[in-house]
Amino acid sequence: MFSFVQRFQNVSNQAFSLGIVIVVFIMASSYYQLINNKAFSIPSNIDNVKTLINVRTSRYFGSQRGKAKENIKIKFDLNTDLTPLFNWNTKQIFVYLTAEYNSSDKIASEVTFWDKIIEKKENAVINVNDLRSKYSIWDIEDGKFENKDLVFKLHWNIQPWVGLLTYGETIGNYSLTVENKEKV
Ligand SMILES: *[C@@H]1O[C@H](CO)[C@@H](O)[C@H](O)[C@H]1NC(C)=O
Ligand SMILES: *[C@@H]1O[C@H](CO)[C@@H](O)[C@H](O)[C@H]1NC(C)=O
Repeated sequence: MFSFVQRFQNVSNQAFSLGIVIVVFIMASSYYQLINNKAFSIPSNIDNVKTLINVRTSRYFGSQRGKAKENIKIKFDLNTDLTPLFNWNTKQIFVYLTAEYNSSDKIASEVTFWDKIIEKKENAVINVNDLRSKYSIWDIEDGKFENKDLVFKLHWNIQPWVGLLTYGETIGNYSLTVENKEKV
């Protein structure tokens, strides 16, 4: 009985170790493939970003105690080819457009305006004009957006079949200073 249990443990330990070796191998080789495909330096062209400021009093749009809050939306052009993110261990990729700005002297913010899940390599080329942001953004402070400097970037993460999420961003940002209400 003892030897049976011990034997079972030996075998399952070995299987477990082998499993770990395989997972590590898959992670390492797909990571190597990403580097080889220059996945960490994919160029992107974010362009022609236009902002629209709306003032909302709905809580759903960040307003508190009935106090109106500025919400910002954008329209943008985006051109990039995320094909290098696809290899045999890529299940899908999540791509998202963010803006970084300083809410105040002390608070640096990063907000997401748009995102997309891409499941197939054939759909990895993004070429859109005048696309509307999916999300309307409000500042965590009471801040106004006018005259704030926004830096837009395109980020991605890879959800693999085996292993951990891999994060990165494309090369090519776009900066603007928010002017007053422009119609989008
Ligand atoms: C935020 O402020 C810091 C320090 O002044 C500056 O280096 C940084 O570029 C600013 N960020 C943006 C997105 O403007
Ligand atoms: C924007 O891109 C330029 C050129 O690639 C780079 O030098 C700069 O650091 C980037 N800015 C930010 C805020 O990442």
